[in-house]
Amino acid sequence: HGSSKINAAGHLEIGGCDVVELKQTYGTPLYIMDEELIRRRAREYRQAFEASGLTFQVAYASKAFSTLAMCRIADEEGMSLDVVSDGELYTALKAGFPAHRIHFHGNNKTPDEIEMALDAKIGCFVADNFIELQMLQAIASDRGEKVNVLLRVTPGVEAHTHEYISTGQTDSKFGFDIQNGTAIEAVRTAAQLPNLELLGLHSHIGSQIFETDGFEMAVERVAGFARSVKEQLNVEFKVVNLGGGFGIRYTEGDTPLAVAEYVKAITDGVKKHFEGIAAQLPEIWVEPGRSIVGDAGTTLYTVGTSKDIPGVRKYVAVDGGMTDNPRPALYESKYEAMLANRAGDANEETVSIAGKCCESGDMLIWDVELPKPNTGDLLAVACTGAYNYAMASNYNRIRRPAVVFVKNGASDLVVRRESLDNITGNDVIPARLEKQG
Ligand code: LLP
Repeated sequence: HGSSKINAAGHLEIGGCDVVELKQTYGTPLYIMDEELIRRRAREYRQAFEASGLTFQVAYASKAFSTLAMCRIADEEGMSLDVVSDGELYTALKAGFPAHRIHFHGNNKTPDEIEMALDAKIGCFVADNFIELQMLQAIASDRGEKVNVLLRVTPGVEAHTHEYISTGQTDSKFGFDIQNGTAIEAVRTAAQLPNLELLGLHSHIGSQIFETDGFEMAVERVAGFARSVKEQLNVEFKVVNLGGGFGIRYTEGDTPLAVAEYVKAITDGVKKHFEGIAAQLPEIWVEPGRSIVGDAGTTLYTVGTSKDIPGVRKYVAVDGGMTDNPRPALYESKYEAMLANRAGDANEETVSIAGKCCESGDMLIWDVELPKPNTGDLLAVACTGAYNYAMASNYNRIRRPAVVFVKNGASDLVVRRESLDNITGNDVIPARLEKQG
């Protein structure tokens, strides 16, 4: 992936930085992000949309990896930003991200979050349910403001990787269902609420999707819905947001499409199905998260202990695990790895990579071929840029790793490694439990 290679010393090099030196500087576990690759992915989306001739916004779904530095890159690359909490919003604002390009998502925004977003003058809210529509109206009316709103609809398409199912009525906690009439009711409601400016529709069908069919089906259904809204309520939509979910290659078994192919399926679908509904085709937004940052990330670990069970399996333990990458334990996600300090050595044994948490399920990779790992070797796990740092925890009171961006042979710290003081930083000892004497 990207600008990684094996250098003359037999070390993995990412963005021109030798990972053995990165370990010396920053320690392990370490998240290493290839900045050029992040920027390249952002540009692939932009270029594919430009080729379509449609008006567009590419919003980075910051849930995949939200830090101040990442928000700066998203801004520099001209992306918009999808946030789903006060924390993600705070991060974006603190990074100076232009508020008018921020979209606020989520199925249970609090009144405080809505106020905070309105104070910041964000671009729009993606409204998820009727209570939220009323809440947005009430708060906007109190403030004497109008708020831009997209309605999240569920088109009855649910896609995961290469499997997608088309359901009669989508069983999902998110959004207004098109097929059972809830969505048109939501449009009727939103259109009548005086402090809401109904900009358009939003649909997100899943994540890590490898084919275009699900997107094509979603575009067709959202367009069909927009057509009946126009006919029945004479309401037109300026914006249609088709969400994220574009897949990436974690292991050889994964077969994602190129960014341009996903975008073309969407833009072609829009041209075909939205023609004639309104005077103009809608502006098209997408919200990729994983496909912007996923393959740019590598996690570097130091090998510690191992346990060989003859005839059964050899466990090799690293200095991180489910605390920095919960995805194998949560989703049985598969990863590829290499010995980064002996990257030129031939693979000689099959081992399983264990984390250091007190939990049997804390396994990063089952059965990976490596050149006999020894204590002190460096293990690099690829494709850990999305939903890894973002989902990291302090389970077992393990400190969250540092994050560095690498580019043109230089590295920059973008998140400091947590300290032991950070671990107890929010703890309070009530006076009655204070140690006496
Ligand atoms: N838009 C909405 C409304 C979403 O819910 C999501 C992801 C995205 C955009 C971005 O999707 P992406 O392009 O990253 O696939 N923690 C899981 C992934 C959860 C995705 C949640 N929503 C994982 O580690 O695989």
